[in-house]
Amino acid sequence: MPMFADLGQESLDALASMVQVRRYPKGAFIVGQRDTGACMYLLTAGRAKVSLASEEGRELVLDYLEAPAHFGEMSLVDARPRSADVIAVTDVEVLAIDGKDLSMAIRIQPKLALSLIATLSRRLRTMIGRLEDMAFHDARHRVMRVIMNVATANLEARGVAEIRGMTHYDIATLAGTSRETASRIISSLVRSETITTRGRTLIIDLPKLTQELRRD
Ligand code: CMP
Repeated sequence: MPMFADLGQESLDALASMVQVRRYPKGAFIVGQRDTGACMYLLTAGRAKVSLASEEGRELVLDYLEAPAHFGEMSLVDARPRSADVIAVTDVEVLAIDGKDLSMAIRIQPKLALSLIATLSRRLRTMIGRLEDMAFHDARHRVMRVIMNVATANLEARGVAEIRGMTHYDIATLAGTSRETASRIISSLVRSETITTRGRTLIIDLPKLTQELRRD
């Protein structure tokens, strides 16, 4: 993980002795909402989703995580039950750090603490954005905003403004709308050439999408 790239061998050995490698198949629950949290996870391979399930079985996806990322730190920091489910979307590999080892891990790599704070801050911003969208904007705007956020994150991580491995249903749940509505909006963006498709990958023209969002 990039966060540990500048550590010497001794520190890496000390960290390695505290983490446990775990593998989960696609579809597995890594963390269950309301469970007691005993450890946090560094996602080293694969994709996972953070979601909430209603009693009637409806799903609200809060975020998709792609390695390298981390999750499960909230219960360790505030000693409350898990705030959400974290489910493997592909086969996943994680490094589990036991709660009692977290402060030692931070002593070895102080960047870990900064990274935890930066992640919390990014999540809060995303949630503020979604709250704002829910209160002030319609489904079209919300779907465009989800596409903008995912494509921008991929541009930063991989240098391409595209969306891969997400279905229209995934985009719809993030935007708080139905799959049918999301598909209709994506088709209209394809017609206006804001999005082009290559197989199941969506390639986003970010300047055009920015214009559409401003106009909306
Ligand atoms: P924890 O509450 O221990 O277990 C569930 C985890 O999901 C939580 O820690 C966070 O790491 C992660 N999580 C909770 N809410 C969000 C969110 N809004 N966006 C991304 N990740 C989240």
